[in-house]
Amino acid sequence: MTAARRVSPINKRVLEPIAAGASARVCRIGAGRVVKIFHAAVSEEMIAREFAAAALAGDAGVPVARPLERLEDETGRAIVYPEIVGPTLMQDMRRRPLGAARRLLEMAGLQRQIHDCAAPGLRSLRDVLRTDIVYGPVEGVLEAAALDLLDRLPEGDRLLHGDFHIRNIIVSAQGPVAIDWSKAARGDPLADLLRTEMLMRFGEGPQDWITNAARDWAAGHYARCYGRLAGDMAGWRAVVALAWLRARAPTRQRAFMAYLARALAAAGLPPLE
Ligand SMILES: Nc1ncnc2c1ncn2[C@@H]1O[C@H](COP(=O)(O)OP(=O)(O)OP(=O)(O)O)[C@@H](O)[C@H]1O
Ligand SMILES: [Mg+2]
Repeated sequence: MTAARRVSPINKRVLEPIAAGASARVCRIGAGRVVKIFHAAVSEEMIAREFAAAALAGDAGVPVARPLERLEDETGRAIVYPEIVGPTLMQDMRRRPLGAARRLLEMAGLQRQIHDCAAPGLRSLRDVLRTDIVYGPVEGVLEAAALDLLDRLPEGDRLLHGDFHIRNIIVSAQGPVAIDWSKAARGDPLADLLRTEMLMRFGEGPQDWITNAARDWAAGHYARCYGRLAGDMAGWRAVVALAWLRARAPTRQRAFMAYLARALAAAGLPPLE
């Protein structure tokens, strides 16, 4: 351990908690900065990936909270970021639903800007999807056919956020800013776009009928705002949805399973048993 790390920079600061997520808690530390302190179970690889991907995006001119430094002491492992002032996009759309269409257009522009960056050094999304399908609940002929399809889909070298949803975007005075790069990868933008569309429809969050109708409308509107992308849409939709089975919370589970069944059929894959 280096001398710099023995100086325990996290616990010498006054930590003002502002948010707690699935993988970390986030605290204000003054001077316009926040610290994201990761839960102990989070792998070192994931923290390093979040730092590297957010730095890469920031260097390319994408509006992100660009990581400032890594901290580590007995409190935990952390990354310091500039504080982005504003609500998350989810909070913003709940407060001002009439502004949602414009916000979704801005969000799609931000995702396109991310996809315009090359990211040759990041992990391959196809490898991630392959692992999730292999270790997920689907077995037998469907698993084999899905892995075969995945092998025929393009590798791609674009920067993919990997978890681009409305709670990972902060609406600042300058526009939307992408945070939480821990699931970043390189690959085909179609896969990332479809994951965002699925998160909008079936990701964690409220699932009352009004919200569900808003989710489906938003997902359709979002895809139209993003615009056309060349590639095997049906193939990517099927493998991204199948891979999600490994880890997803059962939000709108029946609707998701119906979506998955349609996606498998459209891609020419066997049905779920
Ligand atoms: N740079 C920042 N400036 C201001 N607020 C931030 C910043 N980074 C994170 N936050 C706040 O902390 C919350 C959690 O951050 P983040 O999404 O990075 O953590 P997480 O634990 O991975 O979250 P989850 O797993 O729930 O998606 C954000 O929704 C946001 O409210
Ligand atoms: Mg998050």
